[in-house]
Amino acid sequence: MNNSEATQSLIQSFEQAGQGQVFAFFDQLDAEAQAQLVEQASTIDLSEVASLVEEHVVGSHDSTLDLEGLEPAPYKALPANGGDAAEWEAALAAGSAALKAGRVAAFTVAGGQGTRLGYDGPKGTYPVSPVSKKTLFQIFAEKVGRSAERFGARIPWFIMTSQINHEATVAAFEEGNYFGLSREDVHFFSQGLVPAVDYQGKILLAEKGKIAMTPDGHGGSLRALVRSGAVAKMKELGIDVLSYFQVDNPIVQCIDPAFVGFHILGNSELSSKMVPKAYALEKVGHFCVQNGTSLVVEYSDMPNEMQEETSEDGSIRFNGGSVAIHIFDRGFVERAGGDAADLKLPFHRADKKIPFVNAKGETVTPDAPNGVKFEMFVFDALPLAKNPVIIEAAREDDFSPVKNAEGVDSPKTCAEDQLRMFARWLKAAGESVETDDSGLPSITFEISHTFAADQADFIAQWSALGDKPALSDGLLIQ
Ligand code: UD1
Repeated sequence: MNNSEATQSLIQSFEQAGQGQVFAFFDQLDAEAQAQLVEQASTIDLSEVASLVEEHVVGSHDSTLDLEGLEPAPYKALPANGGDAAEWEAALAAGSAALKAGRVAAFTVAGGQGTRLGYDGPKGTYPVSPVSKKTLFQIFAEKVGRSAERFGARIPWFIMTSQINHEATVAAFEEGNYFGLSREDVHFFSQGLVPAVDYQGKILLAEKGKIAMTPDGHGGSLRALVRSGAVAKMKELGIDVLSYFQVDNPIVQCIDPAFVGFHILGNSELSSKMVPKAYALEKVGHFCVQNGTSLVVEYSDMPNEMQEETSEDGSIRFNGGSVAIHIFDRGFVERAGGDAADLKLPFHRADKKIPFVNAKGETVTPDAPNGVKFEMFVFDALPLAKNPVIIEAAREDDFSPVKNAEGVDSPKTCAEDQLRMFARWLKAAGESVETDDSGLPSITFEISHTFAADQADFIAQWSALGDKPALSDGLLIQ
């Protein structure tokens, strides 16, 4: 029996916090299981759990957002949509200079469970490219690697995993030989976990010797960047610009020089890309301002009438869709992910069906929500950041996520969006490609991102290519 003083005082602290049930079956566990439970329990911040329970579960929690004075956030429009072309040129130059100087790192949040896709494995290992079926991770690796080559600098890549998928993620990189990147440039770290609680605020057990814990949301990335030493590593490498994207979106420009430039020239602590909503009720967050502060309001927090409001010209008023593409200033991450009390991200409550062990020691699989999980959202950092900059992005150049097995945002729609993008790149480089009205080419081909990271890069690379391959079904341009 694990009876050390440290164990006894840990159990006592749980009892004092009203969470003694976590150790209800401790005496029935063998020594190894006891040690595992003790280790898991020791990672829990009981005072954080107490305040989460007070605020979101048992207290009088009024989570409705105050919509008073909410306005659409201003943004830098694309030149094609009336933006200032000279300003975009200046941003491109500033961003390219920062990249050449090695100030930029890529950052992917990949700690999610990917349940909606129904894929058993880290989402980044899901194959998505139309011809060679490259995985999400390989596509990002090739874009990051190509950008480093193009700007003649190192671009380290930080990847946040969670306990659920960390080992499998690292193994996939090992197996893929880091997809052409140097292994010293790829940095993995795991995000934090928070215990799930029942409606009385009691921490749930998943097994007699295992606490039900879940990742603390992509907003947990800020503190994980600090706690894991990633921020210190960036400092050592001279990196102060962190290009953030989600694991589910292979179209994203992992490294966008103009975006980097807007961020730097705006002296911004957190910059974001907005995409005009596809339709009024599209399920994305909305970029807004309220009393001079920028914020993202999730679709679930904004009444439909508001989402459907139109401006005088008939266009959607709250048009700024958040596609989870950001740039963080390293110093800001260090403060917001560290001890700065005024820069703490809030937690959100999600009611879930959480399998648990009841007082009799039986495992129960509920068929209705029975408890609460807590998550932080990275976009809640926006109101905390100084000089936030929001720029417009073209959906077709930056956003086609794989979220669902079928229908919208599925592997099929994403592969088609990649094909449309490849066709646009070729047309922009002066080639003729047969497409339908939606821009979808009649043949399936692929442009490897080892060849080009974005359209401008493709045009330069293609025109420099002596022997150009003839466009044919199944062609891989690399
Ligand atoms: C999210 C945004 C939504 C945005 C959309 C764009 C929220 C609440 N909403 O929705 O505003 O318009 O993306 O695609 O986020 N992740 C972690 N750790 C976690 C949880 C998630 O790393 O604990 C990562 C996932 O691996 C993934 C990303 O965060 O890369 C997004 O997570 P997901 O839960 O799929 O977000 P959505 O609900 O699709």
